[in-house]
Amino acid sequence: MKSWIEYWNSDHPIYVNDRHLTLHYRGIAQGIADLVPGEDAHVLDFGCGEALSADLIARKCRRLLLVDSAPTIREKLKARFGDNRAIHVLAPEEAKALAAGSLDLVVVHSVAQYLKKPDFAALVAELAGKLKPGGSLIVGDILPEGLSAMTDALALLRFGFDGGFLVPAFVGLVKTALSDYRKIRAELGLTHYEETEMLALLEKAGLTARRLEKNLGHNQARMAFGAVKFAAE
Ligand SMILES: C[S@@+](CC[C@H](N)C(=O)[O-])C[C@H]1O[C@@H](n2cnc3c(N)ncnc32)[C@H](O)[C@@H]1O
Repeated sequence: MKSWIEYWNSDHPIYVNDRHLTLHYRGIAQGIADLVPGEDAHVLDFGCGEALSADLIARKCRRLLLVDSAPTIREKLKARFGDNRAIHVLAPEEAKALAAGSLDLVVVHSVAQYLKKPDFAALVAELAGKLKPGGSLIVGDILPEGLSAMTDALALLRFGFDGGFLVPAFVGLVKTALSDYRKIRAELGLTHYEETEMLALLEKAGLTARRLEKNLGHNQARMAFGAVKFAAE
């Protein structure tokens, strides 16, 4: 496996069973839906993954753009949401071509760790340019420096306990430990950030940023940030 993008395009074992997958995406979608500023909002979920519950977000906004680099994922999204006129599935190159100042809310959740720091900074700058004045960028699931795989594993077990899939979560962790994920995690690494570093990266893109109290999703050992684009004076 040469890259994380290739990994996410493959049939990977990250979600331990259907219940995990369903609860994961329902939680993320509810979190994003709560952030939608109004029913006319144009919202973009960058690196959306399978986004199984994207309809929960689409119900609360005018237009929902789902962007992912994995063609296999985009095909699934198109099949699932083809009938939903509010939802549009885009490749990252298509998102690049969106008009400047056209979006009210952009969410980038659980993506930064798979990109090198300069690439993520470039992505944030690009997405900041798409925000309307007053629009927000939410960056979530940021791995703090020093976060261990063990902390992530415990968070998954707690999620499994609460969600009624504890045993599959445990089995899934063992499988993941024996799978490609562990090998490419060691080879390609995951990108971690200090809180101040992420704040500075967001501010450099012309946004006013703060750390949010809660991460989207189940893993509260990871960080989330909210960044607003204020109108130029
Ligand atoms: C861990 S999943 C996160 C999915 C979803 N946002 C969530 O929180 O569950 C990472 C997703 O980001 C996508 N991705 C990774 N790098 C990307 C890039 N450079 N451009 C667009 N999508 C990317 C992958 O294909 C994958 O679907």
